[in-house]
Amino acid sequence: MARKAHSVYRCSECGAEHPKWAGRCDACSSWNTLIEEAVGRAGGRAKKRSVDAAGPAPVRLSDVAAERTGRWSTGLAEFDFVLGGGIVPGSVLLVGGEPGIGKSTLLLQCASRLEALGIPTLYVSGEESVDQVRLRADRLEEDAGSVRVLPEVRLEAISTHAEVVGARVVIVDSIQTTYTEELEGAPGNVGQVRECAARLMRFAKESGAAVVLVGHVTRGGVIAGPKTLEHAVDTVLYFEGESSGDFRVLRAVKNRFGSVDELGVFEMTARGLRPVANPSAAFLAGRATDTSGSAVTALMEGTRPVLIEIQALAAKSGYGTPQRVATGLDGRRLAVLLAVLERRAGLSFHDLDVFVNVTGGVRVIDPASDLAVAAALCSSVQDRPAPPHALFLGEIGLGGEVRPVGGVERRLAEAERLGFRTAFISARAGVSTALATVPIDHVSQLAGRLAA
Ligand code: TYD
Ligand code: MG
Repeated sequence: MARKAHSVYRCSECGAEHPKWAGRCDACSSWNTLIEEAVGRAGGRAKKRSVDAAGPAPVRLSDVAAERTGRWSTGLAEFDFVLGGGIVPGSVLLVGGEPGIGKSTLLLQCASRLEALGIPTLYVSGEESVDQVRLRADRLEEDAGSVRVLPEVRLEAISTHAEVVGARVVIVDSIQTTYTEELEGAPGNVGQVRECAARLMRFAKESGAAVVLVGHVTRGGVIAGPKTLEHAVDTVLYFEGESSGDFRVLRAVKNRFGSVDELGVFEMTARGLRPVANPSAAFLAGRATDTSGSAVTALMEGTRPVLIEIQALAAKSGYGTPQRVATGLDGRRLAVLLAVLERRAGLSFHDLDVFVNVTGGVRVIDPASDLAVAAALCSSVQDRPAPPHALFLGEIGLGGEVRPVGGVERRLAEAERLGFRTAFISARAGVSTALATVPIDHVSQLAGRLAA
């Protein structure tokens, strides 16, 4: 079959159109900027619309029913929590994560639960055969028997089937395997991913069904290629964790219908993912309080404080440049903290390998954890355990100063609930708490106060 010219290649730098792909844009000379696009997208649609002249008429906001449809809550507690109550009809949700982290498992569980609640779903599997999906389903606690599975990668077929079965929640696993025949590019390239997402978006808005897109993320943390998807969809969730550990963290980084940065914690069991009701207790379980190099901090993730342990190990390095390895923490942040501790607290790391680890597979971005990282490092260098029931809260500046952090009351309350007794905290925090506070205003005070 001869292909019709369905698409053009547009330069993402200057916007010039090219009939064919090329490595370099003729118009602005930049390299690798041509992205395939369906032709006349706007024009084509406008023509169809002109049948009913101008489309829907404007309405006053006060005439719009406040909560027209509500949400579909799956009953999978942490998933609903991160979404802000459940899946919103007509919305598009992107679930990103590294391969093997449990995205397919999570969404199959959601589909099973929605089916059990009488909400028709369609699970489109572009990566696995029906048999493979069935094998996974057999392991789950949920009964996935009534979930409809469609092994399909062609976008047009997916939306047709979704309409035919009347699915209210369509799960597309994954967006990188989906392609539209309108474009020539291979599935997974930026043009395809973008166009497929745009069409599914339109499908969601027009049909009122919710679409859940699975997106694979590379090690670097970006959703492979289509970072562009994030702004197009309504909600973006990331599923993270160490594949080796049992905990998985679901995080909302964008949410048009709820708050962002909300954390949901799951445990991967032999029977699928199980929500963890008390993340702080789970993360701290099995913590050895009598070992050096361990400090606990409270992260404020969204509305809920979560206690996590930070472990540090500073060990004499062999020859060459000492290693700095950070797991769950930004490597550059670690470098900054090490430099501050060297210069402002007189600790020496120049001949030590430094390893810092956040337990539970959480990725720490909250600067309030600085003081805990510093305390763990300090404790490791001095080979002296930090006080067993102490919490560390504070952001560290380049001058070595320790600054108060936001949401301190709720963080301290969570620590208190879990039996903590002491809080190392900036003296300027000015907070009343049942915990005994150890004021810290500068990293140079850390070593002395840890020993006391
Ligand atoms: P999967 O959902 O296939 O990950 P993704 O879709 O993100 O690539 O999850 C795969 C991992 O989960 C795999 O290593 C097996 C494990 N797993 C369990 O431990 N228990 C279970 O009940 C299931 C279904 C999977
Ligand atoms: Mg998968």
